[in-house]
Amino acid sequence: MEDNKKVVFSGIQPSGSPTIGNYIGAIRNYVALQEEYECFYSVVDMHAITVRQNPAELRQATRNLIALLIACGLDPDKSTLYVQSHVPAHAELCWILNCFTYMGELSRMIQFKEKSKGNENSVVVGLLDYPVLQVADILLYQTDLVPIGADQKQHLEITRDVAIRFNNAFSPTFKVPEILIPEVGARIMSINDPTKKMSKSSDDPNSYILILDKPEDIKRKIKRAVTDSDNEIYFDEENKPGVSNLITIYSVMTGKTIDESVKDLSALGGYGAFKENVADAVIAALEPVQKRYNDLISDKGYIDSVMYNNAMKASYVANKTLSKVKRKVGFADLPRPKA
Ligand code: TRP
Repeated sequence: MEDNKKVVFSGIQPSGSPTIGNYIGAIRNYVALQEEYECFYSVVDMHAITVRQNPAELRQATRNLIALLIACGLDPDKSTLYVQSHVPAHAELCWILNCFTYMGELSRMIQFKEKSKGNENSVVVGLLDYPVLQVADILLYQTDLVPIGADQKQHLEITRDVAIRFNNAFSPTFKVPEILIPEVGARIMSINDPTKKMSKSSDDPNSYILILDKPEDIKRKIKRAVTDSDNEIYFDEENKPGVSNLITIYSVMTGKTIDESVKDLSALGGYGAFKENVADAVIAALEPVQKRYNDLISDKGYIDSVMYNNAMKASYVANKTLSKVKRKVGFADLPRPKA
């Protein structure tokens, strides 16, 4: 690892296929960061099992996500792109940090409260503990910056609190990380309810566009996108959320500014032609990604080698932090028998 570069860490769940909202809000940003920083990107399968998963699907989704992230431009020689469960240090540090995290902190987390509402007695412990595993993810790599959405703010605050608590209890051990919230295009809204964020976990497939959606599906979904009735194309998120969301999508997919995009799109007349052009821009931008993905996913040996090599790279860095932590809390060294 190059010591002069700052470290970036982020995690992405292998549940459901990523949408263009994930692409625009997170993945593109990961790709941009790898030029300047030492990046660790983890496919967090251990977080995924906090809700019940189909094992065969989870296994496949994990490989697929590795391939998709590479297809989107993550370079596995530059960034350490790996599977969380391949690096046991995550689980080990999580246990130790469980002993430095308060019940009150965890039970007050908004996500936990939302997910456990109505079934307080049968909610799994993993869901309560989810943030501590995330704290361990981040602290293992001596992370400077964590690129995440605004919905993850609380998780970053607890990471900082636990890091500071541990450092104060012993001596400086963990870097205290900062959050990095992406600026533009960070929030892509549902296309049939532009007041909600686009989400791959929605029950309605017409509400999102997947990175791997077929061109005809993208066309159909955008044609049905909710707009408004005044048939005028301009950017106004408050009063025209549907139209503005489509303009944002067009702007990101073509690399044009919002102003340039409005100029392009309003020259066309009505909403019919407007939507067709947005759909064409999305299809054109995703085409090379989809092609690369299809090539990668059929190359089993390549994905295997990425998974193996990057798990080794991540383990090396993670184990350095973990060894320090074990000494500080007082675990006995494993004596090496004399040969
Ligand atoms: N909780 C994050 C999410 O749902 C995923 C995640 C797990 C993560 N570990 C992380 C994000 C560490 C950033 C850093 O999006």
